[in-house]
Order: sequence, then structure tokens, then C-alpha cells
Amino acid sequence: MHRLEGRRILLGISGGIAAYKSAILVRELHRAGAQVRVVMTRAARAFVAPLTLQTLSGNVVHSELLDPTREAAMGHIELARWADVVLVAPATADFIARLAHGLADDLLSTLCLASSAPLAMAPAMNREMWRHPATQQNVRTLSLRGGYVWGPAEGDQACGEFGPGRMLEPDELLERIAGFWRQGPLSGVRALITAGPTREPIDPVRYISNRSSGKMGYALAAAVRELGATVTLISGPTSLMPPAGVERIEVNTALEMREQVLSRAAVCGLFVAAAAVSDYRAEQLAGHKIKKGVSRWQLALVRNPDILAEVAALPNHPFTVGFAAETHDLERNAEGKRRSKGLDMIAANLVGKGPGGFDADDNAVTLYWEGGKKDLSLRDKPSLAREIAALIAEHYDAKYTAQDPGSPSG
Ligand code: CTP
Repeated sequence: MHRLEGRRILLGISGGIAAYKSAILVRELHRAGAQVRVVMTRAARAFVAPLTLQTLSGNVVHSELLDPTREAAMGHIELARWADVVLVAPATADFIARLAHGLADDLLSTLCLASSAPLAMAPAMNREMWRHPATQQNVRTLSLRGGYVWGPAEGDQACGEFGPGRMLEPDELLERIAGFWRQGPLSGVRALITAGPTREPIDPVRYISNRSSGKMGYALAAAVRELGATVTLISGPTSLMPPAGVERIEVNTALEMREQVLSRAAVCGLFVAAAAVSDYRAEQLAGHKIKKGVSRWQLALVRNPDILAEVAALPNHPFTVGFAAETHDLERNAEGKRRSKGLDMIAANLVGKGPGGFDADDNAVTLYWEGGKKDLSLRDKPSLAREIAALIAEHYDAKYTAQDPGSPSG
């Protein structure tokens, strides 16, 4: 059986050059066994011919809101109900803005409003348009409402520039769509994971950071994904590639990480804080490079907010898992942190002695939860991550699914 056999995908195409990749996506979805119905905006028709998409999907392409012949075949409300998932790819800046404001002035935007199926979008636009605060605000609004924003990727753009704004490739989009039906103990759960270090700038060329490589957080993102969750990884600077099927948001500072986490935490069922967040940042950011002068220089630092504790304190907070790096008294310190931050679980490891930990390929942790603990001995981080993810899934299930079907599965 094909992996998307019988799944009903409504693919919305808005008007951008990346629309040509949507033709490949339609073909791949069709090959994977999905039923695909394509809805195009008017502008999209200037980039790719409806006949191409009709041939590849095996279904008529819909465009007009008030087309009597099409409405007779399958009305717009029927189409909205038909879909198991709505994916808009490419989603232009204009289309994202219209969705964020709830406009329903063409068939595709009306369908997005009328459908109760999960709504995903794959943005594609010039990098400046993507970075514009208006677009960023609109994307945040849609994420907060529970929409999935996949990408954009960074790279060469059709306009000749380089930066974020490329639509994700069709195989990656297919992977993400398939994720909605991946069977596993965390199927249907939206997970948010932080990873890597943060960088706290001092002046335009200097920053405070730490030696975290991000390997543990990335391995956890992959492991939680393997168990069926839909994963968003909020990552500080690392040299790692995001795991397949995982949405990655890149940040630099603790404050940026906090903003990205808090804008999503309320719609997530699971939060794992694996990032080595800098506890302090420079009180003042110098506008230009600080020159050497005095022989003794004191840098004033201020505390960064504790992202993990903030998420754990949210009303309807997700299942929260923290990490603790300790040099001594592992159990007392880790359990103290778990209790004071109000966490469901904490993964603690001894640092400073022996192998493992920061920047290494291997690690050993002890997981603590209310009334229990488990030692996971030294092993490579991907294997360790799978063990941790399995334990998280077990406890997640015990906390919500078994007792309360209305779990915050996101
Ligand atoms: N954390 C966070 N936001 C911060 C600091 C930490 O989300 N500003 C998270 C980390 O991702 C990790 C856990 O909190 O999951 C670590 O807690 P912390 O109290 O900082 O412990 P340590 O890093 O072990 O440091 P310390 O013992 O100095 O408190």
C-alpha cells in the first residue's frame, strides 16, 4: 500500500514562481496514493497551466469562487469538507496576509476559512518580503491559530538574491504531509524542541555563547518525529542540517528563542528544552566595536528569562521536559530544578567529568519524573534520543491519553 493511500489533499497554489514546483508535488502526492484536488488563485494561473495540474492530479482544477459549473460538480464548502489536509504551496506574502486577516475574496482563501482540516503553508517569496515585519507578524498570527508554516528554505532566489524565501522542495513537503498520518505513540502531537546554544551580542563583532553543538536537541527532534509527532525545532546557531520532516526556526539570542517558543507553545502538546540558553546577556549592546583601553574591564550582564519555566507556567501548558547539566549532586540539583520549574520530566547529566555532554557525540543521562527515575548509560546521541523519546511518549500517554482524552495534543 502507498503511504498516502486514500488521503485527501487539497493543494492551494498562489501566484509565485515556485508554483512550477507544485506540479512536481502534485505528481509525487498522486504517486504516494493521495487524492489531490488543486485550487489555484488567479495569479497562480499565470505561472503554471491548470491543464498540467489537472493531468497530474487526475482531477479538474478549481479557481473561481462563483463558477456555476464547478460549483455544481463540487461546491466550495463541499471541497473544504472533503479535505483531510489543506496545503498552500507556494504561499505568497500576499496570500499569507489575506489568510492572517481572514479574507475570503477568492476560492482558495474562502476554502481555507471554511475548512476545519489542518492548514499548512509553504511560503515562497523574496527574502526582504519574508523578513518584513508585516509578513513575520502574519506568519506568527497564523501559527498561533494552529496553522503549520513549513519553510521557507534559504538559498538562491529566482530574483537573483540569496536568503530565506525559497519554497521547500516537493519531497520535503511530501514528508511533512505524510507526518500527519505517521503512526506512533506521539501521532497527532505537536512538539516544540529547542536546541543548540544562544549567542548574546556584546558589540557588532563579539558575543557570549557556549560550546553546545545542538546534537542532542537535533537527535531528539528526529526521535520525537519518528514516534509520529509534528516537530518544530527552534535552534540556536549550529552547523547541523535539520532532520527530515522537521520544521526548523533559526534564532540567535535567548530573547529571540523565547519569542519563537512562546508564539507556538500554547498550541503544542509537548515542549522539550534541550537548548543551552545563555542565562545572561550584556546589559548594553555597543553600537560599534568596543576598543581596548583600560587594563581591567567589567561587562555588566543581566539575566535572560527562563524559557522553560515560562512555558511550564502557561495555563494549559504542554508536557514539558527540561535538561540539567550538573557538576555534582546530580539527583538533588536536577530534581530541585524539575520541581521549581514545574516540569513533567528532566534529563540530567554530569558534566565536567569523563566523556559525554556538551559538544560530544555521546552522552549519558538520568531521567527524573514525579516518583521515578531511569538511568540511560553512555551511548551515541541518536540512540540516547530514541530512548528519551520513548520514555517521554510513555509518560505523555500516562498523563493525558490514558486519563483525559482531551489532551493538549496540539
Ligand atoms: N533553559 C531555558 N531558558 C533559559 C535557561 C535555561 O529554557 N534562560 C532551559 C534549558 O534549555 C534546559 C534547562 O532550562 O532545559 C536548564 O536549566 P538551568 O536552570 O539553566 O540549568 P543549567 O543550565 O543546568 O544551569 P544552572 O545550574 O546554572 O542553573
